[in-house]
Amino acid sequence: MSVHISAQKGDIAKVVLQPGDPLRAKYIAENFIENAKLVSQTRGIFYYTGTYKGKEITVGASGMGFPSIGIYSFELYTEYEVETIIRIGTCGAYTTDLKVFDLLNVENAASESTYAKFAWEIDEDIISHQGNTFEIINQTAEELSLKAKSTNIHSSDIFYRKDPSVPAIATKYSCPAVEMEAFGLFANAKHLGKNAATILTVSDIIPTHENISADQREKALRPMIELALEAAWK
Ligand code: ADE
Repeated sequence: MSVHISAQKGDIAKVVLQPGDPLRAKYIAENFIENAKLVSQTRGIFYYTGTYKGKEITVGASGMGFPSIGIYSFELYTEYEVETIIRIGTCGAYTTDLKVFDLLNVENAASESTYAKFAWEIDEDIISHQGNTFEIINQTAEELSLKAKSTNIHSSDIFYRKDPSVPAIATKYSCPAVEMEAFGLFANAKHLGKNAATILTVSDIIPTHENISADQREKALRPMIELALEAAWK
């Protein structure tokens, strides 16, 4: 057991798929993982371990924002000997060049957050994916004939804001979309020498307010889930 995860030591696989939403973790476990066993449900943050094509895999949620993914990913890496975390989430597009349902493979996450600086004395405001999982995802996407665009992403602390214009950091680092966790995950993995990647599905186009409806989400997220599972399997 760790402070926030009640699984036993051997109950978490070396590779973890990490959606933000606990119910998405449950959905993936029930529909894509064989013999999925619920190994932790502390605070309603579900973790399941089972197999995918014979390989042991864990799927469990991160919650929203850097504090939450910072806690869960740190405990997975340090208390459960997890080697690789693949975040699977949604993002908002700053530009109509992206379309809803587009898949992104995050190369670098840029943020105004002080998380990396105060947690690990990492002073950069942009942090790369860690290890070779990013490359495996690109290669797997090609094999599955899926288009996963390699891109920089803005990782923000803020969902609702006064000024609707694109934040300066997103412009500075050519980030076409925004989410709220990748920077924290990459910072932890960098500090600990672990692997981390993030795959995102564009769920909303910020300038036009177009978004994937709640009943479209299950189907919309399927390619991302399949890509993550196939990459994790390798
Ligand atoms: N995740 C999905 N859409 C988002 C948005 N518009 N801002 C931040 N995170 C998001």
